[in-house]
Amino acid sequence: MENICTFAKRVAFVTGAAGNIGVALCRLLSAHGVSIAAADLSKETLEERLAGIRNLRAYQVDVCDLQSVKAAVDGAIKDFGHIDILFCNAGVWNHSDVPGVQRFEQMDHEEWTRLLRINLDGTMNCCQAVLPHMIANGYGRIVNTASISGEVGLPGYADYAAAKAGVILFSKTLAMENAGKGITVNCVSPGMVAVGEPQPTDTTWVGRKGAAHEMARAMVFLAADESGFITGVDLPVEGGRTLGPVNAAKL
Ligand SMILES: NC(=O)c1ccc[n+]([C@@H]2O[C@H](COP(=O)([O-])OP(=O)(O)OC[C@H]3O[C@@H](n4cnc5c(N)ncnc54)[C@H](O)[C@@H]3O)[C@@H](O)[C@H]2O)c1
Repeated sequence: MENICTFAKRVAFVTGAAGNIGVALCRLLSAHGVSIAAADLSKETLEERLAGIRNLRAYQVDVCDLQSVKAAVDGAIKDFGHIDILFCNAGVWNHSDVPGVQRFEQMDHEEWTRLLRINLDGTMNCCQAVLPHMIANGYGRIVNTASISGEVGLPGYADYAAAKAGVILFSKTLAMENAGKGITVNCVSPGMVAVGEPQPTDTTWVGRKGAAHEMARAMVFLAADESGFITGVDLPVEGGRTLGPVNAAKL
């Protein structure tokens, strides 16, 4: 039977590659024979966490800074010859000033701007740096990591929810602009993702948190050569968390 996830000598540029989901994604891409330009804030951390993964090179990047993104993208194109797949996966949800949740009226503007810049502008910067190259090649797969908080909101994180909602609609718009150029643009929206073994929780229908490798599987599927007829989709990977209330009768 035909494999549903093949990659014809593809090269992927992955941001947030040193994080929980990023490492799982790089491992799975490598298992599918994809060459990887792994980008994150610290090159040393990338090299430490991704040690042993074949056909991978590490690039320092700050996704908030377009010049930094362009330098990393240019470096990857010089090293690998092309970029076929872009994963805009770098993101932060936590507030640096106050741990945990924060009512919107108490949120300071700097913190709002920081979350928007990393999660939304960061995605925009990476797409702007890579798209001309994909358009010139007539092929591309862009997979942006959004969040279910961008679909249904998340009290205490108005800044994060607004940024991720922006990522979803930004991606749908790019999908329409580039559908005729061989480029698909999709999102994966994780729910609660565990670091390590997923713990049980009664807030998802599946009864546990998700694992990073489960996010990676959805991302790799959307990035495959065979997924060319899927574009503008936001795929929730969240154990049914955004379905009806989890405390409804379980039959
Ligand atoms: N973990 C979850 O439960 C969850 C839920 C929904 C969505 N997400 C999204 O999934 C993505 C990956 O999250 P994760 O769980 O692996 O988190 P993580 O904190 O383990 O990884 C995020 C990575 O992004 C990098 N990063 C942060 N700011 C950056 C910047 N300015 N430039 C470059 N890199 C930067 C960090 O260094 C880190 O390695 C994020 O976009 C996050 O918002 C995660």
